[in-house]
Amino acid sequence: MVGPGGALAAAPRLLLPLLFCFLAGDARASPATDALRHVSNRAAAGGLCEELLLPQGYLCTEHTVETDDGFLLSLQHIPHGKNGVTDNAGPPVFLQHGLFQGGDTWFINSNEQSLGYILADNGFDVWIGNVRGTRWSKGHSTLSVHDKLFWDWSWQDLAEYDLLAMLSYVYTVTQSKILYVGHSQGTIMGLAAFTKPEIVEMISSAALLCPISYLDHVSASFVLRAVAMHLDQMLITMGIHQLNFRSAAMINLSLLSGKIFIWFESHYERGQNCCFNSSRIDYYLEYEPHPSSTKNMRHLFQMIRKGTFAKYDYGWVGNIRCYGQLHPPPFDLSSIPESLPIWMGYGGLDALADVTDVERTIKELRSTPELLYIGDYGHIDFIMSVKAKDDVYVDLMRFLRAQQGMHSSY
Ligand SMILES: *[C@@H]1O[C@H](CO)[C@@H](O)[C@H](O)[C@H]1NC(C)=O
Ligand SMILES: *[C@@H]1O[C@H](CO)[C@@H](O)[C@H](O)[C@H]1NC(C)=O
Repeated sequence: MVGPGGALAAAPRLLLPLLFCFLAGDARASPATDALRHVSNRAAAGGLCEELLLPQGYLCTEHTVETDDGFLLSLQHIPHGKNGVTDNAGPPVFLQHGLFQGGDTWFINSNEQSLGYILADNGFDVWIGNVRGTRWSKGHSTLSVHDKLFWDWSWQDLAEYDLLAMLSYVYTVTQSKILYVGHSQGTIMGLAAFTKPEIVEMISSAALLCPISYLDHVSASFVLRAVAMHLDQMLITMGIHQLNFRSAAMINLSLLSGKIFIWFESHYERGQNCCFNSSRIDYYLEYEPHPSSTKNMRHLFQMIRKGTFAKYDYGWVGNIRCYGQLHPPPFDLSSIPESLPIWMGYGGLDALADVTDVERTIKELRSTPELLYIGDYGHIDFIMSVKAKDDVYVDLMRFLRAQQGMHSSY
């Protein structure tokens, strides 16, 4: 089933079994959900290191950071390559996952094709970020996941709070500037955060997979349908603040509203991926999709509707209260320092990071990014392709090394 345009031709037929997968996943996950307040215990037992990396023969340690608004986020550190004994001398690389994904996303392709393992095996000091609300970062100093306020955030908060907390930690521990790698929402977060001097000063260069700042050329039909039917407003009206495709209520809703299966479809919609191995989907579903917030989806929909790369729009009254102006302030890409080297990998079949939008992003940056364009790659190929290493990561590592003056013997 792997081949250009052929990935997951059976998608519609897979949909129903998948729904049952999610229901089953929900039942399995519920005892853990109740224990989520005890994040430190959770990190010690059943964290990403223990579940995924240690069994593969990689040393991996769990770290917890607290954001300025009280969220407890887990970070994983992979200090050396497989079965290595001495720590990698290379610079810290921080990997930031996308929407409905978690830090696992860098490790669930085959070991030979997963960026997290590849970087560790090639001498980089690997750090993995996990944003609030994902399976690995469900803690808060005062709130529980059952509180409405726990889900009162969008990617803007992920950029301003989560990235600040995670990058500050890595920067402090390693005493080194950080190579930033993001995919999809991880690039929105990065581009927004790099407009802030206190964050960009910790970064030495940035590699962006499927870079997103503008979203008004999104062509994924299910996303456009969800935008048109105001799914964001529907969910908020229904009091659904957590966007969790594993919960029974969400599955009901997705059945009710036809084929709204955003995570599944956005990643695996027919014809949108080059090199996705669909026989691995059951395995991927053990880890993904991760929850996000309805407010985050709403913020993304605002970008699609308005063609802006700006803060969350609360309406005129709310905007005046929050920002002191009628319209939400935009993130100004031209305020990202020209001295920050940027590399971008983007695909001709990407229905989310559309080529037109990527080109607009490039034009508004002051620096000239290095570009890797792959015509037959879709959104998830940059993470899950069966040949991601040769197609993407070899060039990505060349860029990261060049910025550090690292020798290619790594
Ligand atoms: C799902 O829908 C069924 C039938 O409409 C209903 O009986 C059930 O309570 C719903 N479950 C949830 C969790 O909303
Ligand atoms: C696809 O995944 C299956 C199951 O993990 C594996 O046996 C097969 O080798 C993979 N195919 C490719 C081309 O990587």
